[in-house]
Parts: sequence; C-alpha cells; structure tokens
Amino acid sequence: MVSLGASRYPSRFDPARLDEVDPGIRANIERRLDVLGPGYLLIYNDPVAFVRGEKAHLFDADGADYLDAYNNVPSVGHCHPHVVEAVNRQVATLNTNTRYAQEGLVDYAERLVSYFPEELRRVTFACSGSEANDLALRVAAHHTGNEGVIVNRWAYHGITRAVAAISPALGDGSPLGPHVREIDPPDPKLVPAGLSLADHMRAETRRAIDDLARHGFGVSALVLDLSFMSDGIFPEAGDYLQGMVDEVHAVGGLFLADEVQAGFGRLGTCMWGFAMQQVVPDIVTMGKPMGNGIPLSAVVFRPEVARDFGEKVRYFNTFGGSSVPIAAGAAVLDVFESEGVPARVERIGELLRTGIRELLADSPHVAEVRGAGLVVGVEIVEDREKRTPDRARTTRVIDGMRDRRILISGAGREVNVLKIRPPLAFDEHDVERFLDGLREVAALHL
Ligand SMILES: Cc1ncc(COP(=O)(O)O)c(C=O)c1O
Repeated sequence: MVSLGASRYPSRFDPARLDEVDPGIRANIERRLDVLGPGYLLIYNDPVAFVRGEKAHLFDADGADYLDAYNNVPSVGHCHPHVVEAVNRQVATLNTNTRYAQEGLVDYAERLVSYFPEELRRVTFACSGSEANDLALRVAAHHTGNEGVIVNRWAYHGITRAVAAISPALGDGSPLGPHVREIDPPDPKLVPAGLSLADHMRAETRRAIDDLARHGFGVSALVLDLSFMSDGIFPEAGDYLQGMVDEVHAVGGLFLADEVQAGFGRLGTCMWGFAMQQVVPDIVTMGKPMGNGIPLSAVVFRPEVARDFGEKVRYFNTFGGSSVPIAAGAAVLDVFESEGVPARVERIGELLRTGIRELLADSPHVAEVRGAGLVVGVEIVEDREKRTPDRARTTRVIDGMRDRRILISGAGREVNVLKIRPPLAFDEHDVERFLDGLREVAALHL
C-alpha cells in the first residue's frame, strides 16, 4: 500500500512495471530497488535518467534535451560555470570548518545578512533545510519557553524528528506532535462569506493559539512557507501576514519564515517571501537554492532571539559553513548580482504566467492559474463551478508533459495543482517551448 506521504507525488514509478521501463535504465532501477529499497521514490510513471545539465535543461544518455520546469535547487542554472569554477577552486585549495577564522565565511555571512531587513543580523550555517528548521525550532523553544507550533494544514518543513512532527504533508505514517496546530493556507476559497482573507487568517491563528493554551503548550512559533508550496501554491502578495504575526507576538511566540522554497528570488523582485508583505520575521530559514546544489542552509535571527541560546548551548555543525559550501553560496550571490536575476525572474515569470493563463482560459478543468515570480500553480478540477479536485487528470497532464520532455510535478492536499517551478535560469525560449508542450497536452486532457 502506498502511504499518504509517498502519494504526494502524483506521477511516480510503480516497481511492478519494471518490465516496461526503457531497457537503457532498467538494470539500474532493478539494482536501486534492491539496495536502496522502496523509500527511494522515482518520479514519473516512466522514469528518467540524466547525464548532464545546463541552464534549465537536462540531457539523457542519448543527448535528448529535457526542459526543467520543476527543480528549484539549481537556481541560477544547472552547473552554472561561475559556481562550478568557484567550487572547483575552493575544493582544490582548502575545505575546513567554522572553528578556524576564515575570511570567506565572514564575508559571506555579512553579505547574506545584507539581503535582510536590518533587524535580522545573526546567521548560523547548516547543510539542509531540515537542519535549519530543526535549529530554528530549538532556538524558538529556548527563547520563548514554549513548545507549541502553528503550521499550515499541508505544510512540509523537513525530515528530522522535530520538523517531521510539524509537517502534516508527511501524512499518516508520520503523525504530528501533540504540540502542533494546523491552520488554513491563504486560499481565498476557504474564507467564510463576509470575512476578508486577512480576517480569516488572523482568526485561524487565534484559534490555534487558544487551543495550544488550553492544552498547556503556549506558542513557540508560527512557521510558514510563504509560497505555500506543498499546500497548493499560494505565493501572491497579500495583506494577511501582519495580523497573524501580531496574534503570535501578543502571546510571546515568534514568527519563523521558512524560506527554503520562497527565498532567493523565487517570487521575483522580492528576495524573500516575507518581504512581499513587508513583515519582518524573528527567524528565517533557507536552504535548497542557496548553494545551487552544494549543501548549504542557514538560519538568520534577530540577535536578541538567538543570544541566550548561543551563549548556553553548544552548536557545532561539522559541514555547515565549511569552506566549499560557503564558496558556492558566494558564487550564487555573484550570479544574482551580475545577471540581475530577480528582475529577470519577474519578467520571465510574467511571460510564463500570462502564456499559461491565455492557453488555459477556456478549459473547463482549470479552476485557477496562480503564482509569483517563477512559481506557477494550476488548479485542476472536475468542473469549474464545483471545484472538485481532479487528481487523475493532474497526473495525466504531468505525464503528458514528461512525454514531451518537459518536467513538472504536482502539489496540494489533493495533489491536483500543477507545480511549475523551474530553475531561475529559465528564459524566453524555455517559456516558448513550455507553452508549446502545454498546448498539446491541454488539447488532450484539459
Ligand atoms: C518549505 C520547506 N522547508 C524545508 C524543507 C527541507 O529541506 P531539505 O530537504 O533541504 O532538508 C523543504 C524541502 O522540500 C521545504 O520545501
């Protein structure tokens, strides 16, 4: 039986179909099943294997060119030459840890915090988004003396025991902690008649706070991924965040912005999701695109939030902040600055969203096309009026795109939202190719 956690992936390989797999990769998949086991999910009914990447393109062993409209880690582009060169140079020179004074470490830390509002001035490095969130939760609990955490209904924040316990998207096999309360994502269709979205989000937060108080937990942190990626993609700017944060602050809790998805320019000219609503968090976590594929993550704090933990608790992360990932992180920022990435994301994202909207405007199965910067969610339904999620059709669209060598996936509780989230290296030609593919697939399924 497939667990709800695994079923987050709308199109995934079924080992019973091994005989149908391309003979070129069948032996590899057989060995993989044997040694890695079923936990290592392969995306797509018809799996793919790549040997090379460049910009927003991946190439298989036959040289076939796949358009990557899914991967957010290779943010400035697969194997960006400037990042490759910086990593090569550093790995051949010195790779050691934060217990030695290093120019590169301090330069990068100062440069990174300069991308944040001035209240956020302290940074700690780690290797993954999960580690960053794990540390952020420890610091929040230490600072507030509370354990309670508020998250979105279908949020995902990572894999350690502490962050899995605040990740409803992991499903039935990974229960939430007793100290966790879920609230709606900012989905206008969940707002009761007569309320604004901001009123609804504030009321949701207050309901969670009251319930945590009733059960003796108090509030440690409100944790939000501001792209709401696994909740179904709701990244558009709104005016609901400040009210939620005010409620949490009023009871001594902190606001933790998980920018693992939304951060580093994904949403366009705003470098961070929280900046879309001009709210300053207490703690920010980030990862995935930060090192363009080299493991690098970070937690940025208001100094007053981190001080006591920093003085009393020993935190040493062997690889976090070592020389090579720091060189990768600095090279990524170089590219952001030299290529004007945020402005480009804004422009290409607009082109992509407009194209998708025009193409799908008359489809009876598309309820909404939403997005910001270079993330687009397309909500697929049985019919527009009832808005009943259509997961099977979503999967057919994803498979249809894969057959045309265009990579996308799905999101949301019902996995009925197309997740279109390319590397930020996506350009005009990529948009054109994407829309050509989507036009063909829409003619068949939408
Ligand atoms: C919002 C969010 N937070 C945290 C994580 C965990 O990051 P990592 O896989 O690097 O541990 C993810 C991963 O998908 C994520 O989407």
